[in-house]
Amino acid sequence: MKRTEIKTLLESTDYGKTVNVKGWVRTKRESKNVAFIALNDGSTIKSVQIVVDKNPEIEKILDNIHTGAALSVNGTIIESPGKGQKVEIQAKEIEVLGPADPEEYPLQPKKHTLEFLREIAHLRFRTNTFGAITRVRHAMIFAIHKYFTENGFYNIHTPIITASDAEGAGEMFQVTTLDLNNIPKTDDGEVDFRKDFFGKPANLTVSGQLEAELAALALSKVYTFGPTFRAENSNTSRHLAEFWMIEPEVAFYDINDDMDLAEDMVKYLIRYALENCMDDLGFLSKRQQDEEKSKKADERSMELIEKLRFVIDQEFERITYTEAIDILRNSKPNKKKKFQYLIEGWGADLQSEHERYLVEKHFKKPVIITDYPKDIKAFYMKQNDDGRTVRAMDVLFPQIGEIIGGSQREDDYDKLYNRIKEMGIPEESMWWYLETRKFGSVIHSGFGLGFERMMLFVTGMGNIRDVIPFPRTPLNCEF
Ligand code: 4AD
Ligand code: MG
Repeated sequence: MKRTEIKTLLESTDYGKTVNVKGWVRTKRESKNVAFIALNDGSTIKSVQIVVDKNPEIEKILDNIHTGAALSVNGTIIESPGKGQKVEIQAKEIEVLGPADPEEYPLQPKKHTLEFLREIAHLRFRTNTFGAITRVRHAMIFAIHKYFTENGFYNIHTPIITASDAEGAGEMFQVTTLDLNNIPKTDDGEVDFRKDFFGKPANLTVSGQLEAELAALALSKVYTFGPTFRAENSNTSRHLAEFWMIEPEVAFYDINDDMDLAEDMVKYLIRYALENCMDDLGFLSKRQQDEEKSKKADERSMELIEKLRFVIDQEFERITYTEAIDILRNSKPNKKKKFQYLIEGWGADLQSEHERYLVEKHFKKPVIITDYPKDIKAFYMKQNDDGRTVRAMDVLFPQIGEIIGGSQREDDYDKLYNRIKEMGIPEESMWWYLETRKFGSVIHSGFGLGFERMMLFVTGMGNIRDVIPFPRTPLNCEF
């Protein structure tokens, strides 16, 4: 018999029909004459209840059924007397496809901490929480491609291995085939990269932006959505060494168009989640509220779905960096020395505590900050006439801080060239990028949305390690 997915089954009311379901046992409860098995196949957060009338033969099978085992069940759809779902399955035949030893299976039907689940990432997909996150993650990936397709963008695959540092921050993982125990050296005693695979140093990309710009200066509207890698040693709940980034790049867009695009896109994604993922979001909302029960009322987060609706309804606040510094300098936590990094004056880089203060305490809605000091931003950003700021824009979200970083790009050849020189970026790694400013250079802009940060926001999870299937962080490369 063809397998019916549990999602489809739970939506049907074909009482009396015989079906086959397959999945993994979440729980088994037994009384004298009957057993109840909750079976889940991941197609939905909901499990289907399998009702088993006991007889000596079936009891032998039941003895082998424990949490985690994989089953195939043939049975009839019956009306559920319980609340919450319409149907159950009255089992006729049960086959144990894969047993799970209850002494050894680590995922017993009780609450496990997220930290523990990270240690068993090979099994954590089988929890309600990670099932929900995985389905929402899929929906968001789909919505991203849908949004750009509907808006005339073309997706391009930018390289994962590159020989440039797109952000100029030096946080790259090197890629080499050299024998690290026997490194070839030049006469000067330096590593001889001519002997390496590409004949020069190469690294994993930190961003697909530079290549996306090349495509935008021909196709007008493009985006990349790929993995990016950063060897920054930040062990925080918002940083990964391997994360996914969505980077649109648009010719003829200035920074204001760029901000409009960013705001419209994230609102679209949130709306898509609300329209398509309510079962999972409902579960994640309850999970978050349970988790925060022990917190004081004023420390609890806004209820997840209310928070998502709230953000869609708000017009994001747009302020300059200079205005942000004024607000922060005069803020209570700065005056009372509550910030870990005190804001002394103009030029300071904003830390996530500052970003969150602006968003959560001051404006109480998402904030876009523009026109940052050029010294704390990347080389490619459009320089303002004041000589000290660049046309950058960061979108800041509650609980997360920076979710998007973008800018209008420097389109003037000389200014870009001088900035590259000034910042000590190897010119020979940038010649192709510079050339686009020689031939048909136009105003253009783009941004990068950190996909896992977006996932943190949409799911209400607190740690970025829990919204990607296999997190990569310092000293952590298991699974
Ligand atoms: O601000 P960033 O570094 O910008 C860029 O890479 C630009 N090239 C983007 C562009 O204009 N095309 O990174 C963009 C976003 C951040 O706002 C953040 O959401 C996310 O990427 N991000 C990280 N997410 C997880 N772990 C990390 N280590 C991250 N670093 C940045
Ligand atoms: Mg940034």
